[in-house]
Amino acid sequence: MYLLALETSCDDTSVALMRDGELLAMSTRTQLEHDATGGVVPEVAARSHANAIFPCIDDVLREANISLSDIDVFACTARPGLAPSLLTGTTVADTLALSLGKPILWIDHIESHMFANFLERETDEIRFPTMILTVSGGHTEIYLWRSLYEFEMVSQTRDDAAGECFDKVAKMMWLGFPGGAKIARLSAEFVNRATDDEKQLASKLFPRGLSGAELDFSFSGMKSAIKRYVDSIGEPTDADRERIAYGTEMAITDVLATKLIQAAEQHGVRDIALAGGVSANTRLKDMLTQEAMNRGWNFIAPKKILYSMDNAAMVGIRAYYEYIKNPK
Ligand code: KG4
Ligand code: ZN
Repeated sequence: MYLLALETSCDDTSVALMRDGELLAMSTRTQLEHDATGGVVPEVAARSHANAIFPCIDDVLREANISLSDIDVFACTARPGLAPSLLTGTTVADTLALSLGKPILWIDHIESHMFANFLERETDEIRFPTMILTVSGGHTEIYLWRSLYEFEMVSQTRDDAAGECFDKVAKMMWLGFPGGAKIARLSAEFVNRATDDEKQLASKLFPRGLSGAELDFSFSGMKSAIKRYVDSIGEPTDADRERIAYGTEMAITDVLATKLIQAAEQHGVRDIALAGGVSANTRLKDMLTQEAMNRGWNFIAPKKILYSMDNAAMVGIRAYYEYIKNPK
């Protein structure tokens, strides 16, 4: 069964070709034009998707040496996301499915991020129930994942997403968009050169937002505190940027890891998982690996950084599990 999956929910145009749940080919074009505006402009993103989507479809069909008429099922991200971006993908997917007389599955973006954990991994490697944190530029949510098809939201952010906080801090320091990976790189530089005392001080520079037993997240206070700190410095030097990046990464990852562990403990769940663009963050994965090991829990994150970021393979794998549950 060949399945063609499309992802255009934000600023990555991605197409994946799957055969029976196995990824055969994927083509992704990341929109670089948003660097100039320091964030995604929805109309610009939609236009860019419209230009990139057919070349991406061509790429995967050529790589797998099949034609469009060989596709058995289409799948496309339907929600949540930027409306003009989503509309480009859904219109293309709908047109293809309708003209070829093939079924189409409409896929939820957050569920796709969660199912990205099944790419190159058997389902029995995840023990249910699992507490999963799905965190990106647009959302920060914890779900109690009871079984393959059953999940229930446990907490979410009351304001900004964690990835958005990374991106805004990067913008404050003129590092470009998106900023998460850039902040992580600068933070690693700080770790290489700073003394233990300097690290200790920098790790406590910024407030953590909602604390205690509260499972919801809030990043707006942290973001404002970092802004005030950056403004108070004036023109930051490279050393200032590295310290701020480290302080930011420590504050965000500390909150994310702490609340995921708390959510698992409060619900009596013994396994944890991570998904979404921020799950590419090595510090966060290392923290959770350590915390899980201390407790004898299982911890998983997407196998490749590519599968953490927006990509169509995750849409394909989510759709594949939907299809085998309810064949059309
Ligand atoms: O899932 P994703 O590709 O798109 C959305 O659905 O938003 O996530 C993108 C987000 C951005 O905010 C980006 O800064 C963040 O993921 N990100 C990272 C890292 N790589 C990407 N954040 C922290 N550390 C990273 N290494
Ligand atoms: Zn995403």
